Amino acid sequence: MRTIHISDAVKSPGKNVVLSGWIHRKRQSGGIIFVVLRDVSGLVQVAIKKDAISADAWNAALSSTIESNVSISGTIKQDPRSPTGYELTATDFRNTALSEPFPITEYQSTELLLDKRHLWLRSQKMISVMKARSYVFRYAREFLDKSGFFEITPPILTKAAGETGANLFETDFFGSKAYLTESSQLYAEAMAFPLEKVYSFAPSFRAENSRTTKHLAEYWHLEPEMLYFDNKKSMALQERLVSHIATRLASNNQDLLKELQINGDDLSRIRPPFKRLSYEEALGLLNEKGFQLKWGDDFGVEHEKALTEAEDKPLFVYNWPKEIKPFYMPINPKDERTVLCSDMQAPHGHGEIIGGSERIWELDKLLSRMKEVEMQKGIKFNMDNYQWWIDLRRYGSAPHSGFGLGIERVIKWLLNLDHIRDAIPFPRMSNRLEP
Ligand code: 4AD
Ligand code: MG
Repeated sequence: MRTIHISDAVKSPGKNVVLSGWIHRKRQSGGIIFVVLRDVSGLVQVAIKKDAISADAWNAALSSTIESNVSISGTIKQDPRSPTGYELTATDFRNTALSEPFPITEYQSTELLLDKRHLWLRSQKMISVMKARSYVFRYAREFLDKSGFFEITPPILTKAAGETGANLFETDFFGSKAYLTESSQLYAEAMAFPLEKVYSFAPSFRAENSRTTKHLAEYWHLEPEMLYFDNKKSMALQERLVSHIATRLASNNQDLLKELQINGDDLSRIRPPFKRLSYEEALGLLNEKGFQLKWGDDFGVEHEKALTEAEDKPLFVYNWPKEIKPFYMPINPKDERTVLCSDMQAPHGHGEIIGGSERIWELDKLLSRMKEVEMQKGIKFNMDNYQWWIDLRRYGSAPHSGFGLGIERVIKWLLNLDHIRDAIPFPRMSNRLEP
């Protein structure tokens, strides 16, 4: 007989089925062994009665341990006494592979769970989060594919820093210096010229030694780049993208959200338009709340929190001071202290989920802005590394905009996770490279 999933088996009570999965719980009471079996689709209680099965099957069930992989035949029925609502009465039991004593028991430290991450991924919580993560990837791609974007695949090894360059992981590339990319933006720009609307979905690397609940050293970065878009049009696209992800989860994954104790109605209300505050307005609001920020100051965790804690939807803060934003953003012609950009802030203090801007697309403006940034920040761009990217402005150019969305930040917010490390299967942080 063919193995079926638990979720399908419970739909046909009375039928003979074979289930394959993992021993989630086990207890014995005299001549009956109860196990809770787990597969990708859920849990079900199984009753193995000594006098109802062969001696071999009984012995197999006796020897089976927590997290062994097993195949069990039987008939399923509804049973209000079962913790899973259903019970399978076993007619056969086989161990595919016995587990040694499982290193994770009920109350474990966070550190141990991170050390045993490869096994902790079998926990109910992580199973649900990893499913949700996969749906977030799917819905993000779905939205962009339907909106006429091409998915592109940028290189990870690069010589040109895409952002400040302050947090680059350096590596040896056949005797010369290379970096793990901190953003694929520069390559997305090159590909937006021929393809008009592109996105890359790839890891970005940040050697930030900050131990916060929002920073990973390796995260998944969704970076769309659009020809002929200004930042206003880009913001409209960003809110539709984020809304699509949230509302699709709400409508398609109700059971999953329930398991994660997330109210789907809250997610279904994440719809455009999102609030838009200029940097100046945001600064004013924060100072009204008692902060003492000066014009030009960047916002920290506590400011982001104060700005968004009462919000149910994300909001934009646009047109930031040029000193605190990267070199590729154009000066705002209406206020030359600022650049044409925006950050999207998630509600309830989950922090920045998107950073985006227009790009300087004219050669002379780009070169003079890069010089200005060098003076201002006392840095020196290695122009050799940027020549190809500057070439894009030399050989026919066009206005364009783009943005970067941190997928784990979005997952942390949507699933209300305490820490970003739980939004990714194998987190890389300043103090963790294993497993
Ligand atoms: O604001 P950032 O640094 O912007 C860029 O890299 C642009 N080049 C993107 C672009 O325009 N194509 O990063 C973009 C987003 C942030 O808003 C945040 O969501 C996420 O990337 N992010 C991180 N996520 C996890 N861990 C980190 N250390 C992150 N740093 C940024
Ligand atoms: Mg940013």
